[in-house]
Amino acid sequence: MKGILLEKVGGEFTLVDTLEKPKPGPTQVLVKSLVAGINPVEGFMQMTGMLVTAWPIVLGCDASGTVVEVGSSVKKFSEGDGIYGCTRLGTPGYCTFQEYFLMDENLAFKKSEAISLEGAATIGVGILTACLGLISGTKIKLEQNSAADSNEWIIVLGGSAGVGQYAVAKLCGYKVLATCSPSSDKASLGADATVSYKIPLAEQLAEIAKITKGKFSRCFDASAMAAETGMDALAQCGDPDAQVKHFASTNDWVPIEPKEGVEVYLCSLGQIGRSGSEHTAQVNQDMEGFIPVLERYFDEGLLKPMEYEVVGDVGVGEVLKGLDAFNARKGGEKKVVVRIAPDSA
Ligand SMILES: NC(=O)c1ccc[n+]([C@@H]2O[C@H](COP(=O)([O-])OP(=O)(O)OC[C@H]3O[C@@H](n4cnc5c(N)ncnc54)[C@H](OP(=O)(O)O)[C@@H]3O)[C@@H](O)[C@H]2O)c1
Repeated sequence: MKGILLEKVGGEFTLVDTLEKPKPGPTQVLVKSLVAGINPVEGFMQMTGMLVTAWPIVLGCDASGTVVEVGSSVKKFSEGDGIYGCTRLGTPGYCTFQEYFLMDENLAFKKSEAISLEGAATIGVGILTACLGLISGTKIKLEQNSAADSNEWIIVLGGSAGVGQYAVAKLCGYKVLATCSPSSDKASLGADATVSYKIPLAEQLAEIAKITKGKFSRCFDASAMAAETGMDALAQCGDPDAQVKHFASTNDWVPIEPKEGVEVYLCSLGQIGRSGSEHTAQVNQDMEGFIPVLERYFDEGLLKPMEYEVVGDVGVGEVLKGLDAFNARKGGEKKVVVRIAPDSA
C-alpha cells in the first residue's frame, strides 16, 4: 500500500509503496482513506517525535473515508459506510496519509449525506479538541442552550483557528468573545464580539472587560499561544462572584503559571485510542460521549464543517503538496485538505 513515510525525528516525508495493509481488531474498522485534513500536529510530531509510538511512521489524523472491513464485534459500522473523525495519533496502521488505515469504532463518526467527503475531513481534530476544552475543561454541558444565563460570556482565544472555529459554546447558549487577527471575520467565526490579539495585553484586557462587563468565568485558549491573556482575563476581568473560574488550553507542553481561583485544564487529544492512565481513560470516555451528540448536530446542520481548500490533485502523493501549502499559510486561511483517492467505488 502507498503512504507518506517519515523515517525519523526531523526526517523528510517520503512517498513509498511498501506499507502493509492493517487488519482491524474486534472493535475496529479498516477505512479506505479518501480525504485527509492537515493539522499543526503533523509538523509538531515530525519535528519533536512527541506522540509518535514507533518509527518509521505515517502521520495524518483528520480522517474521511469509507469502511471496507469491520472487526468481529463492531456494531456501529458496516462495509460501505462513510466514516470520519480523528484517528489515533502517531500509531502505525492508524494514520490517514496512506491508502487504508484503522479507526476505533467508538471514537469514529458515521458520515451522513449531510456532510461532504471534504467537509468531513475538517471536523475530527477541531471539534473533539474544542469539546475537550469547553465541555471537559470549562465544564459546560454539550446540550443546546444549556447555559443557565444567556448573557454569560465565554472567551475563546484564537477564534479563527481550526480548533477555535468549533467553539460549540455558542450552540450551548453562551455569548462568545473571540480573539483573532483583525482580518478574521467575526460573522464567519460565529462570535458575538471579537478582540484583536495583536494589540498589547493591557488593551486586550480592557476590551474584554468593556464588552463582557465581567460576566464570564470561562476561557478556552484554542490557539495554544495565549495562556497569559486567558489567565489574566479571568483573574482581572472575570466575574468576581464566581466560586471557581475555568481556563482550558490546547497547549499541553508549556507549563502555565497558576492563579488563585482558576482551575486549569489541558486538552490532550493525542490520548485518543490510548490507555495507561486514569486521565487517558477519562479523555477517551469523554470523547466517546461527545461523538453521538456531535454526529446529530452535524447531521442537523447545527454545527457545520469548516471552510476548506483542496490542495493538489488526487493521490496519496498529493499529501506532500498539502503539507507544503499548510506550512506556507500566514493565518486566517481555510482548512487544507487533500484527496487521497477518488470516491469509494
Ligand atoms: N493539546 C491538544 O489536544 C491539541 C489539539 C489540537 C490542536 N492543538 C494545538 O492547538 C493549536 C491550534 O491548532 P489549530 O489546528 O486550531 O491551528 P491553526 O488552525 O493553525 O490556527 C492557529 C491560529 O491561532 C491564532 N493565533 C495565533 N497566535 C494567537 C494569539 N496570541 N492569540 C489568539 N490567537 C492566536 C491565529 O489566528 P488568526 O488567523 O486570526 O491570526 C492562527 O490562525 C496548535 O498549536 C495545535 O498544535 C492541541
